[in-house]
Formats: sequence, structure tokens, C-alpha cells
Amino acid sequence: MAALKKLGILLSGRGSNFLAIADAIQSGRLKAEIAIVISNRADAPGLEAARQRGFNAQLVPSKGRVREEHDAEVIAALKQAQVDLVCLAGYMRLLSPDFVRAFPNRIVNIHPSLLPAFPGMDAQKQALEYGVKITGCTVHFVDEHLDHGPIILQKTVPVLDGDDLHSLAERILEQEHVAYSEAIGLVLSDKVEVRERRVVHKQSRAEGK
Ligand code: GRF
Repeated sequence: MAALKKLGILLSGRGSNFLAIADAIQSGRLKAEIAIVISNRADAPGLEAARQRGFNAQLVPSKGRVREEHDAEVIAALKQAQVDLVCLAGYMRLLSPDFVRAFPNRIVNIHPSLLPAFPGMDAQKQALEYGVKITGCTVHFVDEHLDHGPIILQKTVPVLDGDDLHSLAERILEQEHVAYSEAIGLVLSDKVEVRERRVVHKQSRAEGK
């Protein structure tokens, strides 16, 4: 049997996406293993949750540090853990170009809107205030720009008349928890490739080109 692919999870906060990935692995829905969980914040509940579940959980504090220096330390920890894929799960840091280059097309992120709509902070609030009728979440490869790399998978969520920020964010989060493991499975399966900005299924030889 082929060895399980190793994930490195980076988080800064609550960690519900990390836990959803861990649950998907535990239940056999996602074939992978979590090799390391790294937080840049000591007070991240996700870091504590990772420790409690017995994961290799490390704190690499970012406060007051030069981005490149902090990133180098995170890259070293991920390399040491021999990760195949880096998953940003509520990681509130823009990655340096060196970080992106260290894992080409091997870093993914989840964002709570249908990109390219509403990148950046408070995406759910942006969607609600703009008045869109449909929003959702996006799992994408990470490049050096914020919420910008090729899109792997999106899930839609309707905005209901009675929605407030809390109810909308909660329904989007439910979809995030499904979407992230699905997208990770797709990337690890090696069945997709990035062509220009598009993530498409690799064509079989018989189909030509
Ligand atoms: C999620 O909404 C995710 O899309 C965004 O940050 C939030 C993290 O939530 N990037 P959690 O820490 O995974 O619960």
C-alpha cells in the first residue's frame, strides 16, 4: 500500500477547518495524515485542540518578527515533517514569495467567499453588505498574492432574507468543512493539474493532448 501523503496545517485561531480535516481522515473519508500543525499565535484554540488530540503541534510565534525570518522557521518545520501539502486553515499571514516557492502548487487555502469576490478580511460581511444572493467558499492554491491562486473547488451558499452575519457565516463554515477535505483529496489524488489559472482533470493518454 502506498504511504499516506502528509499534511502540514497552519492556523492562527479557532481551528474548526483543521478539526474537520482531522475528522475526515479519522473517518476514512480522506486518505492522508496530519504530520504537523503549526500556529503563529500561542493563544490559538486550534493549537490547543491539536495538542489535545495528540498531533505534532508547534508554536512558531510571528509577533514582532520579520516575515521572511518567521517564514523560514515555518518552512524548516514543514520540511522536517516531510509534508506533501501545506493547508492554510485560518492562517492570518500573507506568505512571503520564498515560502510560496518552497512548495510550488503545494500550498492550499480556504476562503469564505466565492473568489474573486470579496477577498481579504471579513468576506462574509462584505458579501452580506454588498447584497449578493449567492456566496460560498473557495479552496485555492496559494500564490504570493492575497486569496488569489488557481481555484480547486467552490461551494455555493444562498444568502437568505433573514440572514445576519452570524447565520450566514455559520452556513458558509458548514460548507467549508466539507469543501476543504474534498479539495485536499483531489489534489493528493494527482488527478488534477494547473493549466494557466485553471485546475483541471488530467487527460488520459487515450484522450490525446
Ligand atoms: C474560515 O472562515 C476560513 O475560510 C478563513 O478563516 C476562517 C478560519 O476558521 N480563512 P477556523 O479557524 O478554521 O475555524
